[in-house]
Amino acid sequence: MKNAKIVVDKDFIVGEVDKRLFGSFIEHLGRAVYGGIYEPTHPEADELGFRKDVMEFVKKLDVPMVRYPGGNFVSGFNWEDSVGPREERPKRLDLAWFTTETNEVGLHEFADWAEKSGSDIMYAINLGSRGPESARDVVEYANHPSGSKFSDMRIANGRKEPFGIKLWCLGNEMDGPWQMGQKTAKEYGRIANEASKMMKWVDPTIETVACGSSSSEMPTFGSWEMEMLDECYENVDYVSLHRYYANPTGDTPGFLARTMDMDDFIKSVAAICDAVKGKKHSKHTVNLSFDEWNVWYHSSEQDKEIWKQDKWNRALPLLEDIYNFEDALLVGSMLITLLKNADRVKIACLAQLVNVIAPIMTRNGGGVWAQTIFYPFMHASKYGRGTSLKTLVESPTYSCTDYDNVPYIDSTVTVAEDGSVTVFCVNRDMEEDFDLDIDLRSFGELKLAEHIVLHHDDVKAINTEENPDNVAPTAGPGGVIENNKAKIKIPALSWNVIRFE
Ligand code: AHR
Repeated sequence: MKNAKIVVDKDFIVGEVDKRLFGSFIEHLGRAVYGGIYEPTHPEADELGFRKDVMEFVKKLDVPMVRYPGGNFVSGFNWEDSVGPREERPKRLDLAWFTTETNEVGLHEFADWAEKSGSDIMYAINLGSRGPESARDVVEYANHPSGSKFSDMRIANGRKEPFGIKLWCLGNEMDGPWQMGQKTAKEYGRIANEASKMMKWVDPTIETVACGSSSSEMPTFGSWEMEMLDECYENVDYVSLHRYYANPTGDTPGFLARTMDMDDFIKSVAAICDAVKGKKHSKHTVNLSFDEWNVWYHSSEQDKEIWKQDKWNRALPLLEDIYNFEDALLVGSMLITLLKNADRVKIACLAQLVNVIAPIMTRNGGGVWAQTIFYPFMHASKYGRGTSLKTLVESPTYSCTDYDNVPYIDSTVTVAEDGSVTVFCVNRDMEEDFDLDIDLRSFGELKLAEHIVLHHDDVKAINTEENPDNVAPTAGPGGVIENNKAKIKIPALSWNVIRFE
């Protein structure tokens, strides 16, 4: 048994947790839309063709906002193809994922689904193969009340009231050679600036997100942010961050330490935003949108085989990572990292939501089930809203390939509007349980309401349609609280949610 200690004070605040920190992402990719949220022939389909059973799982995650329709897909997408009578919508070759996009589901249908799911839309525009003009047009189509070409087109297509989309991505990963219409930082910064300006002239209430580097591992990371922000700083509200982690060698301690990298990434991008702010003598603060984050590697080889056999088909089963228990621990730790940085990270999207590197899996014509990563996301979305507190963690540390001084206990604390306090905690120790002392000074009388644990003896354990609860949360061992000091037992290798009321 090892010991660790947490100290929190209700007055030591990181920041308010923006509910959009618990966003997700649905791209026209693989079976995310077709065979995921939408399957009109499924017994569970509603009158619009959306699977009600899948929507129930989405609702359990309480996702306040979903990024749509891409991703790489958006860089070759014509939004006009996705509206109007369905039978007239074109089938297009999607050069991002080598599939055929049928446009059966478009902006109107997705907005119906999002409304039913209780989510807002974060809409990505195409700044790859297209430019500011189509960006302006789609804002007019979506948000202008009436009396103009595109707003009247929306009304003619059956939607009188504007969609009122408030958050817009200015393209996707425009630094990547895999992207249709890849750009240099300067080229992108110019285009993003003009697009954002024109979009905001159509609807001054919207916010826009400029593309940061597609990963902190890009050779241009850092200089890309500097140069492109130099062109568009005053006209954008957020910079995007994308990061996926992998464990191809089975190095669990090293894998679980990857959030050290995520934290550095966030701090570096925030510093660059502020450096540009300083250089420009600006009063405007650009915040961060971590709009793609997850584990992604399990399906990479499988995808190559799929493309060898079946290029250009509709809804290929791509990026169908099957997540194991250690992935859930890293996802928990990534959520803790986002919460710790809630002062600057206002938006985050777990990429993605259904079937494609997703917490929710479906079988065409069959069931729906929760992957391992579903649970930490559900817990954070449910209990992580409110205020993020500065959390002092004293924990023994370990070294691994990329890092020294990795704390075994990764933890953060939030306080909700009703005064309840939640401690999120990952124990990265493969062998040993911890006695965790939690000093809750200044909170007044609190009682231990609940201790939830996610643990499995096998780090590679997964959930399947036949065995959906193999990795699922259980009641934790809990502990005692006296004079605002709690002592909680944290099992080896576990995700923990400790709630005080
Ligand atoms: O989420 C899958 C893909 O990952 C997205 O389309 C792209 O933006 C990123 O490279």
